[in-house]
Amino acid sequence: MSFNKVVLAVVLCATVAAGAVRHLHLSDKYMVNVDIIENSTKIELELIVTTTGYVGFGIGPNATMTGADLFIGGVNGTETAPIIYGDDYHGIGNQMPVLDTINQAWNVTSGSQANGTTTLKITRSLDTGDNTEDIKIENNANMFVLWSIGASDNLEHHSEKGSKQLNLFTADDTNSSGVTAFSVSTLIMSLVAAFLRN
Ligand code: HEM
Repeated sequence: MSFNKVVLAVVLCATVAAGAVRHLHLSDKYMVNVDIIENSTKIELELIVTTTGYVGFGIGPNATMTGADLFIGGVNGTETAPIIYGDDYHGIGNQMPVLDTINQAWNVTSGSQANGTTTLKITRSLDTGDNTEDIKIENNANMFVLWSIGASDNLEHHSEKGSKQLNLFTADDTNSSGVTAFSVSTLIMSLVAAFLRN
């Protein structure tokens, strides 16, 4: 096998591994793009939510607010002067969550609002080092994802909410065109294998 072939195969495989953005369809109003980044030390989420109010995203050992590790953010202000906000909370019951004081682990890297949809990109270390107010994000299927939608940017009772048990390292819902990140990866891997055989 030529050196060029090996280099090309390595580049293609690295592209597949690095570009594995997955898509979660939590509700018709709540979509998430998920990527595990920076040598599997961080998670990046793009929350795409039909609301001009706040967006809540959480992880927990079960489907309830109690003990859940929660993010609440949104885009406030005016169209010409948007104010992007986002903070790390934890749930203590069916009531307003409590702001984390040990560590504000989520970093909002971008935010926008257009045509009634709020889009936020947020990142966090998988292990924040704080096991009191944060929950470590691990490669296991027992975790629950919680989501909520606020009717406004006032942090009051959500207008919609839900939960789903899934593994944030592997979960991937088929998108509307029927193509998943997994099927694209599989296709590229198959092409690499065929290429190496010839
Ligand atoms: C902003 C302040 C919040 C308040 C005042 C609040 C309040 C409540 C209340 C009163 C309930 C029970 C009634 C119901 O089912 O609607 C509830 C349930 C729930 N909330 Fe919240 N919540 C807040 C934020 C959040 C956030 C940020 C999330 C997720 C990221 C969330 C996720 C949920 C879920 C999944 C349930 C259902 C739990 C169950 O069935 O036991 N909430 N919340």
